Amino acid sequence: MRIDVLTLFPEMFESPLNYSILKRAQDAGIVKIVFTNIRDFATDKYKKVDDKPYGGGPGMVMMPGPVFDTVEHVQKLDPEKPRIIILTPQGQPFTQAKARELSKENRLILISGRYEGFDERIRIGLDAEQISIGDYVLSGGELAAMVIIDAVVRLLAGALGDEESSKDESFSQNLLEYPQYTRPEDFRGMKVPEILLSGDHAKIAQWRRQQALERTRKNRPDLLKDANS
Ligand code: 6GU
Repeated sequence: MRIDVLTLFPEMFESPLNYSILKRAQDAGIVKIVFTNIRDFATDKYKKVDDKPYGGGPGMVMMPGPVFDTVEHVQKLDPEKPRIIILTPQGQPFTQAKARELSKENRLILISGRYEGFDERIRIGLDAEQISIGDYVLSGGELAAMVIIDAVVRLLAGALGDEESSKDESFSQNLLEYPQYTRPEDFRGMKVPEILLSGDHAKIAQWRRQQALERTRKNRPDLLKDANS
């Protein structure tokens, strides 16, 4: 997979994407992530990429010109047709199902903006989809792009090592994970549930299922209406 990230702050991505699974996936050639600075495609001498909103209102809006020019530039870097995604709190919610869907693509272009948002003609003209990572407002799309990259790349074939199981399973059943325990058996008087030491795999599976349901009911009752219980 190739992921092009269009951003005003490429440096923000350096550290988060260079550890663990994401680093290994890039080193192994499973994913190639390329950053392009939208400001490099500003056309005036002040390198301006934003302007005041027509109709008034607070803040600034990403201008269409530099974003279009950046997209057209990166499209020419590779013949693969990309799926174009704009990161914005106005987008559709990002979910595990969406991560799975995106992981099947050969190429993504992620556009991270700053300011109050994007000129609407960016979405229309690029026929881009909009994605939000949750119901809160971030200062820009960069952190959201990193979240999406992480969730997508770990699903690519070969990205996870033997020790890292795909945690995807629980979410595909719309349930939260059951509680996990490791050594020691007794930590400060808190004991590992007896059943996990029993060696009875059927009983353990049953207990985990019941714990997952209980936890989901408590923390995320909204998930239960679609769970295959
Ligand atoms: Cl994708 N961008 C910004 N700026 N804020 C967000 C978001 C995206 N998703 C949730 N909040």
